[in-house]
Amino acid sequence: MRRDIVHIGAGQLRYEIREIVQTAHELNKLGRVIIWENIGDPVQKGEPMAGWIKDIISSLVSKDFSYAYTASAGDPETRAFLAKGVNARGGAQIGPDDILFFNGLGDAVSTLFTHLRREARILGPSPAYSTLSSAEASHSGYEHLTYRLDPEKQWQPDIDDIRMKVKYNDSVAGILLINPDNPTGAVYPRSTLEEIVKIAREHDLFVLCDETYSNIVYPGIKTASLSEVIGDTPGIALRSISKEFPWPGARCGWMEVFNQDKDDVFRRYITSLLDAKRLEVCSTTLPQMAIPLVFSDSRYPGHIKRRAKMFSDRADEAVSILSDIPGITVIKPSGAFYLTVVFNTELPSSGPIPAIDNPAIAGRVSEIVADVAPDKRFVYWLLGATGICTVPLSGFCTKLPGFRATLLENNNKKRRQTYNTLAVAIRTYLN
Ligand SMILES: Cc1ncc(COP(=O)(O)O)c(C=O)c1O
Repeated sequence: MRRDIVHIGAGQLRYEIREIVQTAHELNKLGRVIIWENIGDPVQKGEPMAGWIKDIISSLVSKDFSYAYTASAGDPETRAFLAKGVNARGGAQIGPDDILFFNGLGDAVSTLFTHLRREARILGPSPAYSTLSSAEASHSGYEHLTYRLDPEKQWQPDIDDIRMKVKYNDSVAGILLINPDNPTGAVYPRSTLEEIVKIAREHDLFVLCDETYSNIVYPGIKTASLSEVIGDTPGIALRSISKEFPWPGARCGWMEVFNQDKDDVFRRYITSLLDAKRLEVCSTTLPQMAIPLVFSDSRYPGHIKRRAKMFSDRADEAVSILSDIPGITVIKPSGAFYLTVVFNTELPSSGPIPAIDNPAIAGRVSEIVADVAPDKRFVYWLLGATGICTVPLSGFCTKLPGFRATLLENNNKKRRQTYNTLAVAIRTYLN
């Protein structure tokens, strides 16, 4: 080409969660039945959509206005409804104009980073959720800038690490956190959130808090939403119906913006996000219309409570099956629906892998693992040997070797069987 047309951040666009899928299909063709433990889609894993939510959506399908464009920022009534809800929590107050809808948070994240000035960096957690870390890395053209989540402390953020990185790197313009976290399942107490906001305030930064899983906090665990702790610091909370209705296929998420009136630069940045959305016209209408109807339904609080308890029980089940295996650390999540296992022993980075019963699969897996990170070797071997498709932790911007599975399989027998098979496989691999 006359000109290099490849973006400077192109090499940073990695989504390990889906990259393994291609290999899984390949091994499936060679005879391995795949157990999908890589993607956070409750519906794909058999969770039935609640009948009453389906009824609400059906009622919208028969209304003509569901087929129209809506406002660029999102349906006005839905935004007014959501703003009231945020204000009811106490803390920072917002209006409908502080809410901006996207086609899922994937779209929100991409828009956020595309329109952020190139030199402005966002400091995010490690392990990181790939959509956010890749977007930040791609936007800046450098590796994602991270702070440590400490596995020795239930994956809580290392506040000193945040403080030092903010202090000594003046390109940092914002601090990102995910609460509850993907992939670790950590939930942050209010005091931790306040500490992070305090650092942001002291250094004139904004806080970006991904609250995708805010309604999947396990019984007995306490946290706060960004609105409750942000005070007068600029902040953005990201919300979605993907995991919570759950309706990931709706591609519907939104941004709640705090204190755009308090900082001129922050307000101009937020305006640029709305301007970008205007160029796309709007996000999908129908799922937005469903939000007030579902959230205000008397069955919703019970629905959320039941699901949080269900994932908490499944976390207990997985931890009880895996926790006494030597060589790994399993920390019980406090929210969301993932299970992260860390190897606390050195994994081989070369040499033969344990036997796989199907020679064609064994051959293909040996080729793949010839030159990959040690935890990726384990994950691809696990896929070949058992069909269990997980994601290597090294795909989440961390040097800690491990993998992420989910708590999503809705068939109790199948789920237990998967964790039992996983336990045997880990022992075999580490022996
Ligand atoms: C932390 C986090 N943020 C954002 C997303 C993207 O969600 P959406 O379906 O709204 O694009 C996910 C999806 O897994 C997630 O785990």
